[in-house]
Amino acid sequence: MNPNQRRIVELIRDVPDWPKAGVVFKDITPLLADPAGFAAAIEELVALAPGPIDIVVGMEARGFIFAAPVALKLGAGFVPVRKPGKLPGQVDEQSFALEYGHETLAIHSDALWQGARVMVIDDVLATGGTIGATAELIKRQGAELVHVAVLMELGFLGGRERLAKAGVDTLSAVVTV
Ligand code: PRP
Ligand code: MG
Repeated sequence: MNPNQRRIVELIRDVPDWPKAGVVFKDITPLLADPAGFAAAIEELVALAPGPIDIVVGMEARGFIFAAPVALKLGAGFVPVRKPGKLPGQVDEQSFALEYGHETLAIHSDALWQGARVMVIDDVLATGGTIGATAELIKRQGAELVHVAVLMELGFLGGRERLAKAGVDTLSAVVTV
């Protein structure tokens, strides 16, 4: 681990049994409140960009916090993927399964273009549902998903393998636990 990664791990707080028994929640709020820690997180995510990027896509809500500063640093635009009913224009939606029930994500139908070089940024990769649905939305607009970067990968949940099977195989994490 480099010093940035160590700092990031130290500033992400484990909250046992939240939001329900048996789940250890990864709380990023101490990291965000620490200027050096937050800067380290953005720096590490920016370093994962594989080349020129046209658009950084971030997912509501926690993805926004990291994706927007990364977009600025890369000289790229920012496009939000949102929960339903929040975007005012014509939208394309993709649903995915949660442990109980379904979640849906939406993007403006005209947000991307054929061949656009897109990087996806989120805070945490858990089961991969959020990233998988986002990747679908991006590919449907003819854009090229060049990379997915997350701050923290929960390796034991198998999200990376699930995404690779779905064709999302360029993925990296600043830290993996
Ligand atoms: C959390 C987290 C990731 C996602 C990871 O978002 O921010 O986006 O779960 O889980 P997955 O890999 O199993 O999809 P969540 O939708 O819970 O809430 P948020 O609005 O706070 O980002
Ligand atoms: Mg999220």
